[in-house]
Amino acid sequence: MVVHHGRISDQMNIDRIRQEIPLTREVIYLDNASTSLSPQPVIDAMVEYETHYRANVGRGVHRLSQIAGQLYWDAHETVNRFIGGEGGTPVFVRNCTEAINMVSHGLIFRPGDEIITTVTDHHSNLLPWYALREKGVIVKVIAPSTPTAGITTDDVSSAITRNTRLVAVSHASNVLGSVHPVKEIAEIAHDHNALSLVDGAQSVPHMKTDVKDIGCDYLCFSGHKMLGPTGTGILWMAEDTLEPLLLGGGMIDDVTTDGYLVASGYSKYEAGTPNISGALGLRAAVKYLNAIGMNEIEAHERVLTGTLLSGLSGIEGVSIIGPPEGENRIGVVSFIVEGLHPHEVAHILDDQDTVIVRSGHHCCMPLMQYLGLPDGTVRASLYIYNTEEEIQTLVEGVREIVEGV
Ligand code: ALA
Repeated sequence: MVVHHGRISDQMNIDRIRQEIPLTREVIYLDNASTSLSPQPVIDAMVEYETHYRANVGRGVHRLSQIAGQLYWDAHETVNRFIGGEGGTPVFVRNCTEAINMVSHGLIFRPGDEIITTVTDHHSNLLPWYALREKGVIVKVIAPSTPTAGITTDDVSSAITRNTRLVAVSHASNVLGSVHPVKEIAEIAHDHNALSLVDGAQSVPHMKTDVKDIGCDYLCFSGHKMLGPTGTGILWMAEDTLEPLLLGGGMIDDVTTDGYLVASGYSKYEAGTPNISGALGLRAAVKYLNAIGMNEIEAHERVLTGTLLSGLSGIEGVSIIGPPEGENRIGVVSFIVEGLHPHEVAHILDDQDTVIVRSGHHCCMPLMQYLGLPDGTVRASLYIYNTEEEIQTLVEGVREIVEGV
């Protein structure tokens, strides 16, 4: 693909996107796997709610509640369509972590049941399962056979048994950038009568996702990593059979002094006043992503990822921790600089080049232990508003650091 100045296609004008995100003019923001920046329409949607129809949802008949309630409902519809989730239930939560905890608390496990997760997964897809060990559940943390390549179907097949109840794997690693075969993994799980959970925190913001094509039972992702506000995330479930984590207002059809009858759909899982302005911001974010096109976004990031990988791999003393350029990776690029702690590299990049990258274990301590990298890595992670020039600045910054060691 030919990258013209600031524009990679008629659909996607990076200059325009950057104008709507003032921070892109102040720093080179390459910590998108952690949280992304929000464009003005997302902020406007939240301000509009706060300014013009601030009211609770699902609780009143007055005009403000009607407007807010209708938009809040539409936010669920918009997000659900974005992932091809029609027929399933999209529950608004605070983040991916909350979503996975809802599943770990909402399923009923018996002693001897097995859960498979992986050493490449984020703490949020490990700890909620570890906690079930107290109930006699066996948690298998499988490792990729090629350490930095990500999880394969063979890795899952060799661990699954007829006692496996759930296979919980990330679609893309937040450290390695590897993309995992979640569709095939869901099939393997179902062939063994197990459920499948996909942590889509690093995939949904960056690639077209069709949850029905994947065939999983649960998909979790975070709104704040896809241009949306912090404090927003989604738990999509194929069937709303989980026990709700929270009980209280807004999630019932009937309550008597003896008991209660829960509502159906997303309301059942959203007890209490939700993050309404956040949901409307997320709705705006999804519309923004749709207007650009997920295929465009993926293509743009693939070009930048190629530049970044080839730039870094050309520097002696820099090692990339993850798969090479190709279909099976996203624009999350971890690397280490010989002789320097990852935090030092991140500090210098920030001080000298205003390049913002994350460093350390990235909430993946077991993976760092597995890779023998106790200090972790430096991680650059891309999004739609990043440019070739920014990637070159990062690469040159790293080169200067290496030359100065
Ligand atoms: N999961 C986020 C990251 O990888 C916080 O940085």
